[in-house]
Amino acid sequence: MTATRKLAAGNWKMNGTAASLVEIEKLLETHPEPGCEMLICPPATLIAQTAWRCRDKHLKIGGQDCHWESAGAHTGDISAAMLADAGASYVILGHSERRSDHGETDIEVAVKTRAAWGAGLAAVVCVGETERQRDLGTTLVVVGGQLDTSLPEGCTAGNLVVAYEPVWAIGTGRTPTLAEIAEVHDFIRAALERRFGAEGAGVRILYGGSVKPSNAAEIFAVSNVDGALVGGASLKAADFGAIVDALSAA
Ligand code: PGA
Repeated sequence: MTATRKLAAGNWKMNGTAASLVEIEKLLETHPEPGCEMLICPPATLIAQTAWRCRDKHLKIGGQDCHWESAGAHTGDISAAMLADAGASYVILGHSERRSDHGETDIEVAVKTRAAWGAGLAAVVCVGETERQRDLGTTLVVVGGQLDTSLPEGCTAGNLVVAYEPVWAIGTGRTPTLAEIAEVHDFIRAALERRFGAEGAGVRILYGGSVKPSNAAEIFAVSNVDGALVGGASLKAADFGAIVDALSAA
């Protein structure tokens, strides 16, 4: 895995208005040539504006969800084709907040992943166990099942990124131990290789859940961690930039 293939992805969730564009400006200013790939997934309302601003820069823009159809009677939804039209090149799918807020299932994630590819987007598919599932010792069973069902045939190093996000670590300030992260990332890598061969070996596996400037470097040193999906700490250019620096140095 070369340094430029590593990915620092920011998920702004339902945060950000036009006033937040200043953070994009700061990031472009402080990181014109980052040592890793940089991606920000702002709310849908800001995708077109941010993508236009970043069109000739080293900062990619992504969506946080998409519908599985390309158009039609689905009030309030956004299709992958619309995200691509607005300038996005990635889309996050199956985030645990989509799964819990909207009852999204693994099968829906698989269908959305295909829709993303159909529009030329790369999918960032999220998996991860709840605290109860970890306490019960079922983390690998849960993550394995999510991978089996959420990933359609045809995954490649270019069209897929997997994000391991323990649900209990998201927005809580708590993280698994480095050994626990290594165990799950090694497991995901083996599963991807088994199913997708050489392409699976090249799929980037991000860790997500309370990544911040103070813990980024140690997490990026863990085996099979190819970057991070960052929520809260992606909202400020200074914090996200520090995480980008840690990944570039890893
Ligand atoms: P967090 O969120 O960094 O705020 O924990 C991560 C995510 O949900 O992608």
